Amino acid sequence: MFTNSIEVRDATLKDLNEIYAIEKESFPDPYPKPLLKAFFYHPGIYIVAVIGGEIVGYAIGIIRFRSLGHIISIAVRKESRGRGIGKKLLKELIKRLSAMGAKKIRIEVRESNEIAINLYKKFGFVTKEKIFGYYPDGEAALVMFIDLP
Ligand SMILES: CC(C)(COP(=O)(O)OP(=O)(O)OC[C@H]1O[C@@H](n2cnc3c(N)ncnc32)[C@H](O)[C@@H]1OP(=O)(O)O)[C@@H](O)C(=O)NCCC(=O)NCCS
Repeated sequence: MFTNSIEVRDATLKDLNEIYAIEKESFPDPYPKPLLKAFFYHPGIYIVAVIGGEIVGYAIGIIRFRSLGHIISIAVRKESRGRGIGKKLLKELIKRLSAMGAKKIRIEVRESNEIAINLYKKFGFVTKEKIFGYYPDGEAALVMFIDLP
């Protein structure tokens, strides 16, 4: 699969069921569907990655305090991972958050989630904090930040 066959576009409410399916298979503590729906009404960025008309990933980012970007979620369908879709979604999210005025972007990630940590490091995110017991099962979160030009 070639990364240029991946289209990244704004999500619409019609995509919600597929987004929720990806969420459920991606996280031990998935966001409930109503919360994923609520982000459509929150100012920010809600994008999906599409291959051949099928949604294979999604990402949500918002702006807090005018200049702090916050990545709420990013996930790729299990069977489509490792093909550059996460990179494409994250690149678009950073570009759009920057265009909305973000000077910094924050993300929390499980400390055991090496794949995601590698992805964020690749884009220049640096771990600045660790929050013990952040997740419902007690796992710690690394809080990673990137400064934007
Ligand atoms: C994290 C996630 C979004 C990455 O998406 P992806 O499409 O698989 O990632 P990509 O193919 O674009 O790879 C991006 C980078 O991630 C890292 N990566 C990907 N697969 C990896 C693996 N099996 N082992 C280690 N690092 C890996 C690499 O740094 C890779 O860059 P490279 O290909 O240039 O080496 C995806 O694994 C996922 O949905 N995971 C479950 C949900 C999740 O944990 N989200 C993050 C929450 S904070």
